[in-house]
Amino acid sequence: MNLTLKIWRQKNAKTKGKMVDYPIKDVSPDMSFLEMLDVLNGQLITNGDEPVSFDHDCREGICGSCSLQINGEPHGPDRGVTTCQLHMRMFNDGDTIFIEPFRAKAFPVIKDLIVDRSAFDRIQQAGGFISVNTSGNTIDANTIPINKHDADDAFSAATCIGCGACVAACKNASAMLFVGAKVSQYALLPQGEIEATDRVLNMVKQMDVEGFGNCTNTGACEIECPKGISLKNIARLNVEYLKASF
Ligand code: SF4
Ligand code: FES
Repeated sequence: MNLTLKIWRQKNAKTKGKMVDYPIKDVSPDMSFLEMLDVLNGQLITNGDEPVSFDHDCREGICGSCSLQINGEPHGPDRGVTTCQLHMRMFNDGDTIFIEPFRAKAFPVIKDLIVDRSAFDRIQQAGGFISVNTSGNTIDANTIPINKHDADDAFSAATCIGCGACVAACKNASAMLFVGAKVSQYALLPQGEIEATDRVLNMVKQMDVEGFGNCTNTGACEIECPKGISLKNIARLNVEYLKASF
């Protein structure tokens, strides 16, 4: 396939960015999207040009680093996959592909396609944990009976990889799906009950401090989430927040 890439180039957080055109030839449909960018960068380096900076780590849908806005959609046109799992067979010969960083005030651009998502880390640090003494004998997990539905829902919530696609998909740049998942994964389990009040109040407070927008229930976050995190987690976050507030 021969393609035209329109890529956001920005030297650093302080300079203005712009879209730059890059024609690329002989792209295999079996390449991943990041492999296609690797090929482009190889060509740029050979020609003495600056390669395009983009985030990646695991390249298997686990770490949440590879966040790109592709043709206006976080992680591109496929469903239930991260950018590193997106394949070029989703595109056609002759296509023009727009590649941008995730756009949100709370995710400032660092360089080219890389944004600073440390706001998520600070929300997690505000309450996304349980405090247990892990020294001495550990208790067998089976000694704490947990309803199967709650265990399944907690596990589903815990599959959130913190990629930020929910924020990028939302017209309000809301982080409610991410925070809902991180609150739910503990709220549903007895181990999370002890710190439940502080957790939800502190995480929501930090979310607001970071400048994320409010949720207006458009549902765009759920559609673009590569892990299928359900809107039910936002409803649970609201219930947990109300309970904690009273
Ligand atoms: S909820 Fe989904 S889209 Fe949002 S950070 Fe988690 S995995 Fe990414
Ligand atoms: S590089 Fe880790 S999820 Fe894509």
